[in-house]
Amino acid sequence: MSLQEQIDLSKLPKHVAIIMDGNGRWAKKRMLPRIVGHNNGVKTVRKIVEFAAKLNIQVLTLYAFSTENWQRPKDEVSGIMTLLKTYLKSELNTLIENQVSLRVSGDISKMSDDIQKELKDAMDKTKDLKGLVLNVALNYGSRQEILMACKSLIDKGIKNPTEKDFEDCLYTRGLPDPDLLIRTSNEKRISNFLLWQIAYTEIYITDVLWPDFNEEEFCKAILDYQKRDRRFGKV
Ligand code: FPP
Repeated sequence: MSLQEQIDLSKLPKHVAIIMDGNGRWAKKRMLPRIVGHNNGVKTVRKIVEFAAKLNIQVLTLYAFSTENWQRPKDEVSGIMTLLKTYLKSELNTLIENQVSLRVSGDISKMSDDIQKELKDAMDKTKDLKGLVLNVALNYGSRQEILMACKSLIDKGIKNPTEKDFEDCLYTRGLPDPDLLIRTSNEKRISNFLLWQIAYTEIYITDVLWPDFNEEEFCKAILDYQKRDRRFGKV
């Protein structure tokens, strides 16, 4: 039986979040510039988005660019931005064909005007689609998100907020919390990603580098998740 056939479709994670790590190391191993690693990372993004949509996963969150990533060398940052723009342009039709609805978590007002325009256009054209929600974390930092939510609560005059009030102020409002968080390239860190949302998320770390990650590796993560006993603090 193939790995995909072993997946119990009645116990799929609703929301899978991924820290896509290892593009730089993938390139370094081949003595190639880091941007070639990112380029191949985008190929993996295409594969995994299509596969997650096919499996009927509800939400896929990808950590594409953190608030800290601006500190990388200028040409790496601009290279990633160009890749993002190209992805949005070239993939929009495929996203629509696969009923994928695009969302962004993060402060995109700090991104260039043309990227903001592409993002808004893609979100607008896919907002009513009923398939996978592809939530791309861009200029995202979880501490910044939590502070933003606190400020929104103050602005709304909510003095005694419930968890729901707080969640309504996060970028992820309306989305279920991630059931499964995957991190590639064997780093055992959370890196300021979805700190509130992953309170009870199952974590899966693989040593596969993101450009080498594929449908089979995604199945392995889901199968591992399906073996876990999720107790949410109960016995
Ligand atoms: C991590 O590898 C990768 C990133 C920080 C950037 C990921 C961005 C993309 C794949 C492109 C744009 C995204 C989309 C959704 C189209 P790393 O550079 O941290 O690798 P290293 O730890 O081996 O150096």
